[in-house]
Amino acid sequence: MAQGLFITFEGVDGCGKSTQMNFLSEYLEKGGYEILCTREPGGCPIAEQVRDILLDVGNGEMADNTEALLYAAARAQHVAEVIRPAVMQGKIVLCDRFLDSSLAYQGVGRDLGVEQMFKINEFAIDGLMPNYTFFLDFPPHLAFERMSKKRVHDRLETQDEAFYKKLYDGFVMLAGRWPQRIMRIDASGDKFQTKDILREKMDGILRKHGLWHE
Ligand SMILES: Nc1ncnc2c1ncn2[C@@H]1O[C@H](COP(=O)(O)OP(=O)(O)OP(=O)(O)O)[C@@H](O)[C@H]1O
Ligand SMILES: [Mg+2]
Repeated sequence: MAQGLFITFEGVDGCGKSTQMNFLSEYLEKGGYEILCTREPGGCPIAEQVRDILLDVGNGEMADNTEALLYAAARAQHVAEVIRPAVMQGKIVLCDRFLDSSLAYQGVGRDLGVEQMFKINEFAIDGLMPNYTFFLDFPPHLAFERMSKKRVHDRLETQDEAFYKKLYDGFVMLAGRWPQRIMRIDASGDKFQTKDILREKMDGILRKHGLWHE
C-alpha cells in the first residue's frame, strides 16, 4: 500500500503554527496532493471530548499527571482513527501540534521529565512518529506579547512569560535530539517570509520521498 507522509507543526503558543499550516495545505492541494489537516488535542470526536476537559477553565485543580495522560489518551485515539489510516492511504497529513508539544509542555514546562513523557507517548502513538516536524522558531517574549492581546484565554494559555521561555528552550532541546526529523524554521519574519521558507523545505521533502509533481 502507498505510504504518505506525516508532518507536524510545533512551537510556543502564537508562533504561527495554524497560519503556516493553512498556507502549506493550500500550496500542497494546488500541487495535486491529497492532504489531511488535523490538530491536537483533538482531531476526532473522542479526542475532541478529551480536549474540552483539558481546555476547560473550570478544571483548575487538574493534576499535572492527569493532564499528561489525557493528552496521550487523546493522541492514541487520533492516531488510530485518523492519522495512521490517512498515511496508509498515501495522504500527506499535516497536524497542528503532536508528540513534541507533550514533551515540551508536560515534560519540560511542568517538569514531568522528557523521558517519562516520551515513554507514555510511545505507547500512545504505537510507532507512528512524524516523518518531519516544523518547529516554528519565534522569540518567546514576542509570542507572549502576541498572545497577551487575545481577550479570551483557555486553561492552558493562562501562563506567564517565563513559562513561554521554558517551553521554547524545551523545543530547542528537542530539535537537537531529533535533528533529522525536526526542522527548525525561522518564523521571526512576516508570515509570507515564513511561508516561503516552508515551501522550500516542503519541496525538498517531496523530492526526497519521490513525491515531487512537476
Ligand atoms: N509572521 C507573522 N507576523 C505577524 N503576525 C503573525 C505572523 N504569523 C502569525 N501571526 C498572527 O499571530 C497570531 C498567532 O498566530 P497563529 O494562530 O497562527 O499561531 P499558533 O502558533 O497557531 O497559536 P496557538 O498556539 O495559540 O494555536 C495570529 O493572530 C496570526 O494572524
Ligand atoms: Mg493555532
